[in-house]
Amino acid sequence: MTIDAQILRALRAAHPAAVSGADLSQRLGISRAAIWARIEALRELSYEIEASPHLGYRLLSAPDLLHADDIMARLEGTSCLGREVRVFQETASTNDLIEQMASHGVAQGMVVVAESQTRGRGRLGRTWSSLPGKGLWFSVLLRPQIRPQAAPQLTVAAALSLWRAVYQLTGLSSEIKWPNDLLIQGKKISGILTEMSAEMDHVKHLVIGAGLNVNHQPRDFPAELRSQASSLALASGQLWNRSDLLVAILREMDSAYRKISSGGFSALAEEWRQRCTTLGRQVTIRQGNRLIHGLAETIDEEGALLVRTQHGRLERVTGGDVTVMK
Ligand code: BTN
Repeated sequence: MTIDAQILRALRAAHPAAVSGADLSQRLGISRAAIWARIEALRELSYEIEASPHLGYRLLSAPDLLHADDIMARLEGTSCLGREVRVFQETASTNDLIEQMASHGVAQGMVVVAESQTRGRGRLGRTWSSLPGKGLWFSVLLRPQIRPQAAPQLTVAAALSLWRAVYQLTGLSSEIKWPNDLLIQGKKISGILTEMSAEMDHVKHLVIGAGLNVNHQPRDFPAELRSQASSLALASGQLWNRSDLLVAILREMDSAYRKISSGGFSALAEEWRQRCTTLGRQVTIRQGNRLIHGLAETIDEEGALLVRTQHGRLERVTGGDVTVMK
């Protein structure tokens, strides 16, 4: 962990109290002058740190900045996710970048975050608008020991993790639209793109890419999206700190992943069912040229949607574009 991340960790742990320069210097094994220099460097990055000769240093506020070391320090204690976090100012797509890393053997738990994406991708070949500073655009690499059929479990877990983190931090209660969109008042605030590399009987690795619209104003969305897209800021009337949200999401994902790895998907599925507004509704699902009409009944133990068609047959659906009938 870098010196800056260790200083921030100590300041956060002491908050709202201060930490003395002597204490920091002893804990980190560097001089008080070196601590002061790092505090100045953090201030340059817009961390607001109060320095008092008697009490020491106190963190007053953190900027809305994605700082990889700081995020990693705040994720200490997770069992897998965020053991390594990389932040890029700009990339084509975080899913593509982490896929390249996966093919070079990077360990699971890697998180790649971008301030902006030039070719952000959505499901079904759509583009995903990813402006700098407005939202969270990130991907996570997993190497789960599951069969490919059970991969939807991880998308279910990811959607639920986003739901929970958004609720914890903002108090906003969103709805999950199958397979993995989060909506507030019918407008999309988040989407997930899961991509898998698999053989017939086992998953080699899985990339979960998530986009969360955080501080967008209407003008930040392309005109054609304005009626369908929203952000946490628009839904709540205030701006939110993206690092806080990212840390909360990754913590939730880590705990959900642990549950799934120890055979505990059922409890996650039950909560997902409560948050999902697609269940119990008549839906049409388009898969290429094929249309499936019916009642969205539930998700099964592998995370697939079960749709009861007009003919009474139960269809197992793992992908496609869903339209919910009024
Ligand atoms: C969807 O709703 O269609 C899924 C959108 C997923 C967007 C995220 S942003 C980070 C990651 N990188 C991408 O190119 N896409 C995903």
